[in-house]
This record gives sequence, C-alpha cells and structure tokens, in this order.
Amino acid sequence: MHNEELWQRYMGEISKVSNLNELQTIKVKFLGKKGEVTLALKNLKDLPPELRPEAGQKINTLKRLIEEDLEKREQELLQRALDEKLSKEAIDVTLPGYSLKLGKLHPLTQVQHRIVEIFTSMGFSVATGPEIEKDYYNFEALNLPKDHPARDMQDSFYITEEVLLRTHTSPVQVRVMEKYAPNLPIKIISPGKVYRRDDDATHSPMFAQCEGLAVDRNIRFSDLKGVLLTFIKELFGPKTKMRLRPSYFPFTEPSAEVDISCVICGGLGCKVCKGSGWLEILGAGMVHPRVLEMAGYDSSMVTGFAFGMGLERIAMLLYGIDDLRLFYDNDIRFLQMF
Ligand code: PHE
Repeated sequence: MHNEELWQRYMGEISKVSNLNELQTIKVKFLGKKGEVTLALKNLKDLPPELRPEAGQKINTLKRLIEEDLEKREQELLQRALDEKLSKEAIDVTLPGYSLKLGKLHPLTQVQHRIVEIFTSMGFSVATGPEIEKDYYNFEALNLPKDHPARDMQDSFYITEEVLLRTHTSPVQVRVMEKYAPNLPIKIISPGKVYRRDDDATHSPMFAQCEGLAVDRNIRFSDLKGVLLTFIKELFGPKTKMRLRPSYFPFTEPSAEVDISCVICGGLGCKVCKGSGWLEILGAGMVHPRVLEMAGYDSSMVTGFAFGMGLERIAMLLYGIDDLRLFYDNDIRFLQMF
C-alpha cells in the first residue's frame, strides 16, 4: 500500500517533466542517496524480521520499475531534442549553389596553341630559346653585323654591349642549327615573347612571335609556299588566299612578305585592309647561305626556309580586335570574351 502510494507520487511528478534537467531532479528525488526509494530501503531494518523479505522485494521491484521508466523517458527526451535540433538546422537543398568562376587561357595563348597544333600536324617540333639573348644570336649570326643598317628596324633594349632582350624569335633558328649541325633534317617552330622599343595602338614593347625553320637537302621555295598556304587555310579558313611580295631580310634570300586575303571583306577592300583586299601577316624566305654556314652547315649541300609572324596581329585578325593594348590590360571583361 505504501509502495503503491510512492509509485503514484512518482508518476504524478514524472508526467509533468518536459526536459532532461527536470528528469534529473526527479531521478535524484526518488533514487538519489537521500531519495524516497533509498530511504524506504533503509527503513526496512525497523520492520520485524519476518516481514522484511517480502517488503524488501516489493521496494526493489518498485525501484526497478522507476529505473526502467526513467530510462525510457530519458531516451524519448534525447530523441526529441535531437529531432528539434535537426529540424532547426535543416538544409534547403533547393537553394542555388555558389558556382566557381572558370578561368580561361589568354586569347594570345589560345592562338599560340592553335598555331603549334597546325605546324606539329605537319611534322614540326617546338623549340625554345632565351628572352635575354646575346647580340651574336639576335643579330650577328643572322647576317646582321654591327652597324648593319637593318638593325635600325628593330630598336632594341640592350642590357650590356653584348646582351639584349631579343627583338625577334629568329635567334632560336641559329641556336637550333648550331646544336644539330651537321645533322638533318630540322623542322621546328618557336613561339615566344620578344621586345622592342615601341609603344602605341599597334606596337607594344613586349609582344609575341612564332618562328619557323626547315633545313634539309633540296628544300625549295615551293616547300615554303606549300607549308605557309596549308597553315593559312587551316587557321583562317579554306577560302583564304595567299600572296607573296618580294621583301628584304638580312637572314633570308630571297625574302618575301606574306599577305592573306582580308578576313573581314574577303578581298573586296574595307577599312581593316585599307581598301587593298590584303593583310600582311608574316615575313619569310630561304635561309641565307651565310646563316647556314655560320651555324655549321655546308650551304652547297643544304638549303632551308624560315618564317616569322607576330601573334598579336594574327589574334587581332582572327577575333576582330582593333587595339593591341587590350591584350595586356588584363581586363577580365575582355578576356572572358574568348
Ligand atoms: N625575324 C623577322 C622579324 O621579326 C621575321 C622573319 C623571320 C623573316 C624569319 C624572315 C624569316 O621581322
């Protein structure tokens, strides 16, 4: 009867509990050191000995019931707290995500890759050389001795008397020939940066070129024409026409300036081609025998052709860009257009 009353009291109190703290208080009140159930067990000793076993059993049963009930309620409260937390922290999977901005290759790099692709498909390899170059490779070995008037066409940044920032990619021709002579054949292109003392809408002190060189027995001018025409049609489209005009470079003989039919008007004449229908895109020629000899080849046995083009000019024509400086401003709005 006494136990029944204790159980009812426990139930009365525990049913009001709504969180773990309150549950803990009830637990102490009934099962703690001075708790009601604990006291009832202690009080057993006051009973006459013959009544103790039965009374003890009853209190222990009650104790177990309360323990089990507390355990069950504790689990329920823990679960409820977890559910609440999860529902508050819920992630809205329908929110649009943050997208990463994708980087891109610079338009000049893209053009360079395209040019390399076309020439490597014709069997050319890529060679490189230093941007800080010896006067010997930049001029002397290209048949441009000191005081040669053609040096004036390439206003240079000198570092010392004998060292400068290369003014064109042609020194790579010499370096490659020197390295491989007298072995044959050579078929290389060499893209890279070059430097001249120029700065306006069509000239930058730093710009990019791509050199080409083929050396072998029986290389003829028609080989040069065939390679260049194939290249031009690949890059600018199959309808593009090519025109060669006689020109002069100290390191090629004969030399030519190479034009393509205007990519804007198709040859009819417009603002871009200044009414002529033609656009100049590169310089070329047969390697001068003196250049072959200086690099270690017997010019009576071996011939070659060479060409050099400015990458900015080609990119401007391909993309219809009218100011060279846009390439170097690094304006993200411009760069994202390619
Ligand atoms: N190096 C020359 C220039 O920069 C171009 C060129 C290269 C011409 C190879 C002929 C042969 O103007």
